Amino acid sequence: MSNVVLIGYMGVGKSTIGIEIAKIFSKDFIDTDALIEEKESKSISEIFNLFGERHFRKLEERLLIHSQFHNHVISTGGGMPCFDNNVMRLKEIGTTIYLKISPENLADRLWVGRKKRPLISQIETVEDLVDFIRTKLEEREEYYLQADFVIDVNGKASCEVVDEIGTVVKKIN
Ligand code: S3P
Repeated sequence: MSNVVLIGYMGVGKSTIGIEIAKIFSKDFIDTDALIEEKESKSISEIFNLFGERHFRKLEERLLIHSQFHNHVISTGGGMPCFDNNVMRLKEIGTTIYLKISPENLADRLWVGRKKRPLISQIETVEDLVDFIRTKLEEREEYYLQADFVIDVNGKASCEVVDEIGTVVKKIN
């Protein structure tokens, strides 16, 4: 098995960091959003706009039920662990690592590109974005904190986060 599963809110850097971890440990990298986009031949925004969030969550669940992962680093969509018992599925697939970050730092990272992200594309001020993220994180941490490891990303360069995750991965491999 030997899969590493990165979970956490959008914008925390799961894919950037996951790609590095995959390179270092000679694993294959996959991003669940990219897999869904490929399978559906539509962007995540198109899926949300055409069919709604509930349909997207079903696609996420289906992906986890029907895919086989071996020696992968998996970057998950930010909401994936928080619906349909997916957090338990992810824990069965591999070692789960929650990348934890404050709402303020997330809002900084997400503000400029928010239009491309269906859940926050309509938000018009940074303050509203921080409030939205804070509320979501409060709801979602119940799931995120079930991860096997929690790594605090606040104020760290991505290479530092990669090093910390590397230490975890060495232990479990
Ligand atoms: C979502 C996060 C996104 C994507 C979708 C919904 C969420 O993934 O799955 O827009 O509910 O937090 P990233 O975390 O990869 O941006």
